[in-house]
Amino acid sequence: MQSSSNSDLPGTGLPNSHQALLKNQHLLSGRLALLGVASAHILPELPISGLAMSEHAGVFRALERHETWQACFGYEDAGLVQDSYDTLVVFLPKARAELEMRLALARSLATDKARLILVGEKKEGIAGAIKQLKAVAPQAFKVDSARHCQVWCAEDIESAPGFRVRDWVTWGTAESAGVSVEVAGLPGIFSHDGLDSGTRMLLETLEEQPVQADRLLDFACGAGVIGAWIQAWQVGREEVVASVDGVDVQSQAVICARETYQRSRAAGTIYASDGLASIDGLWPVIISNPPFHTGVKTDTSMTEKFLQDVKRHLKPGGELRLVANSFLPYESLIKRYIGRVERLREDRRFTVYRAFRGQ
Ligand SMILES: C[S@@+](CC[C@H](N)C(=O)[O-])C[C@H]1O[C@@H](n2cnc3c(N)ncnc32)[C@H](O)[C@@H]1O
Repeated sequence: MQSSSNSDLPGTGLPNSHQALLKNQHLLSGRLALLGVASAHILPELPISGLAMSEHAGVFRALERHETWQACFGYEDAGLVQDSYDTLVVFLPKARAELEMRLALARSLATDKARLILVGEKKEGIAGAIKQLKAVAPQAFKVDSARHCQVWCAEDIESAPGFRVRDWVTWGTAESAGVSVEVAGLPGIFSHDGLDSGTRMLLETLEEQPVQADRLLDFACGAGVIGAWIQAWQVGREEVVASVDGVDVQSQAVICARETYQRSRAAGTIYASDGLASIDGLWPVIISNPPFHTGVKTDTSMTEKFLQDVKRHLKPGGELRLVANSFLPYESLIKRYIGRVERLREDRRFTVYRAFRGQ
């Protein structure tokens, strides 16, 4: 095992896992595929180009700007051509189940006798992930420890063609106010194991104080549970059914939301976008259970940006309805960016806010 001080590492400013890969770039040869890229700034630092996949819509857009690279968005992209790559780099995802899916994708992209490299941070659980790596490549060995990461390598891996993300979709049920919908899940998606308590509280307010609109936008839609539920609830009451568009940054969420809508015959377009950056349009109602985590620490910056931008997408008089952890500082931000705000429901954990854009 080699180790090093951080000062001799290239690419300072990149995520640690990307710096650790740069330090070991001698391992990269032939046709290269990087799976789970977190920063496009790594691309110009690498000695060869190839395929770069990110499941984050914002990173994917940044990857697309590098013309010598083939950028792919997540696990379902026409650019993911099987049996084509000699070196596969897998960056460790947060969820264990997603690692299994990412390794399966890597093996399907691999040519015969390809090299597989796994890079991940210690605090994100690289040590535990090695068991999963060894299950598909028992010959894997540790090459380096650097930048709080480990770099593992397996030579001559067995390729496994036939990866299709839809084979990884599982189904669950979400029920609120006597209305249940089937919801698609994929590894790494939010609330894979049932209806989130915050989402449940939001749905309960939608039953008690329904929104008045024929078109809604669900920001940070995840697997599409809110849109599918609203429409199923309206069908049950023989009301006019609103179409509910959705936005999410994560590839798996976009795939699942489309699957969920298809299964429950819900209407609405699902967009892949980092915040509202790639979204045009005005809606009479925008609803959200927005994100507040990236990694281990609480991070509200994405939702703060959403609250700054949302007014541009709300029709005059339109409603924003949002659920969030009660300790988060959103009430004052909603007041600042949209206007007067009410709390429709709250408990120790969650609060549902409602605000109307002025005419
Ligand atoms: C709290 S979950 C809510 C998911 C779903 N609406 C529900 O209630 O089950 C937040 C969602 O925000 C998405 N997200 C995170 N950052 C985002 C961003 N910058 N732009 C759009 N969506 C984002 C995540 O992928 C996740 O699906």
